[in-house]
Amino acid sequence: MKIVVANGPNLNLLGTREPEVYGTTALADIESALRARAGDLGCEIVFFQSNHEGELLDRLQAEAPGAHGLIINPGAFSHSSYALYDCLRWMPVPIVEVHISNVYRRAEGFRTHMVTAPASTGVISGLGARGYLLALEYLVDRDQ
Ligand code: DQA
Repeated sequence: MKIVVANGPNLNLLGTREPEVYGTTALADIESALRARAGDLGCEIVFFQSNHEGELLDRLQAEAPGAHGLIINPGAFSHSSYALYDCLRWMPVPIVEVHISNVYRRAEGFRTHMVTAPASTGVISGLGARGYLLALEYLVDRDQ
């Protein structure tokens, strides 16, 4: 069982980026925690991050065949990318969109404009880095 975990722009900065909003957990720590949990659950994780919209689409299109589910934190593309929305609509797998922060509590109004979320099976927002693990458990459970 292959679960794809995709991360959009600026998520490579986790750990140092606005720690009061995103916490101090680095993306590499999130990846390690997911791999450890995936080992327990008997599934394989394909994990990547890109700051580039086209590169994200290329990776998603390449990884979709044979995948059982997708966990995606599209970063700011969540609020703007119709190309990513179209790609997610095409992907024939359950999708959980994860946001570390609660985008509905943030000061900037644009963060409640959710472009990609309607293409997802579900959204987790505001549960910190733990959201990725909860998404993994949901996708694996759902598949059994
Ligand atoms: C984010 C929320 C987005 O609004 C923001 O642009 C991000 C991170 C989150 O994980 O809370 O880059 O997706």
